[in-house]
Amino acid sequence: MTAFAKSSRLMQRGTDFLGSDYAILCGAMSWVSERNLVSAISNAGGFGVIACGAMTPELLDAEITATKALTAKPFGVNLITMHPMLFDLIDVCARHRVTHVVLAGGIPPKGSVEAIKAFGAKVIVFAPTLALAKKLLRSGGDALVVEGMEAGGHIGPVATSVLAQEFLPALAEEHLVFVAGGIGRGEAIAAYLEMGAVGVQLGTRFACAVESIAHPNFKKAFFRANARDAVASVQVDPRLPVIPVRALKNKGTEEFTAKQIEVARLIDNGAIEMGEAQLQIEHFWAGALRKAVIDGDVENGSLMAGQSVGMVKEEEPVADIIQQLMAESEAALTRR
Ligand SMILES: Cc1cc2nc3c(=O)[nH]c(=O)nc-3n(C[C@H](O)[C@H](O)[C@H](O)COP(=O)(O)O)c2cc1C
Repeated sequence: MTAFAKSSRLMQRGTDFLGSDYAILCGAMSWVSERNLVSAISNAGGFGVIACGAMTPELLDAEITATKALTAKPFGVNLITMHPMLFDLIDVCARHRVTHVVLAGGIPPKGSVEAIKAFGAKVIVFAPTLALAKKLLRSGGDALVVEGMEAGGHIGPVATSVLAQEFLPALAEEHLVFVAGGIGRGEAIAAYLEMGAVGVQLGTRFACAVESIAHPNFKKAFFRANARDAVASVQVDPRLPVIPVRALKNKGTEEFTAKQIEVARLIDNGAIEMGEAQLQIEHFWAGALRKAVIDGDVENGSLMAGQSVGMVKEEEPVADIIQQLMAESEAALTRR
């Protein structure tokens, strides 16, 4: 690791926390972040995270067991806070002695952080505002991921560059902050490390690695795409607060607009409540992403991708991507 001495020094608190060689997390990607990609990331010195998504406790149990069989290195599990069986999923993580749990998709429900800490795991949280970040870190969150709107998948409204300026000076000294969204090269990693981040999280850059089980059609769509093709979904009904999703433009993006209109009508008719409406929207995404990632239907499925997709040009082994990112970061810091 002496080859990356400057970067490693700035990542020290992050690597101590994660137990990995490099403080580079591969953010959970539903359907993509399963045993193969997760173990490959961790074996290459990064930190892999299983995407639980809409999995049942039984499926998560099997996925953790299979991942453990492929790597002896630490990895995490990402749980979506609105999952109806969240506490059962936490029990599965407890049985496996999972070391790091990432809580994504909203404010953690009462008791969830405590339940995770009770079996000794570290809790990684997301927060869209500085005030909420402080609250979550005060109430048990061990580390924070700050994610900007350049990212693939569900996104907030603010760019990574702005969030980093807002969050890092306020939190970096006392807390562990990882930066995510739009990172494609190591020079960007170096910049965020210098601003006080202890590490970074990438998704798009790893989605098409050799070890990723994503369908060849999904990967081809990524290799062809430019930054401007990764667009955020639009909200069609002001009453239906859908979280925007960044994905490559295709027929599936249009179908999402139609889905929103359909769900808004169901609310109008009193057929469903707002909570159910939001769950239906999330199920739509999970199904559409599966169609693209697993079945290779890149017309109708969802090609969730961040703006860094333009920097993904070919299938590369995870280890090469990580080494390249570290080398770029180190070169940038050495040039300073
Ligand atoms: C295909 C895809 C699926 C994703 N699915 C999830 C998910 O299920 N849960 C989650 O917390 N984040 C999800 N994300 C976000 C990633 O974990 C990560 O934070 C993000 O990709 C980082 O930004 P980047 O894409 O600019 O590298 C997804 C991203 C992509 C590209």
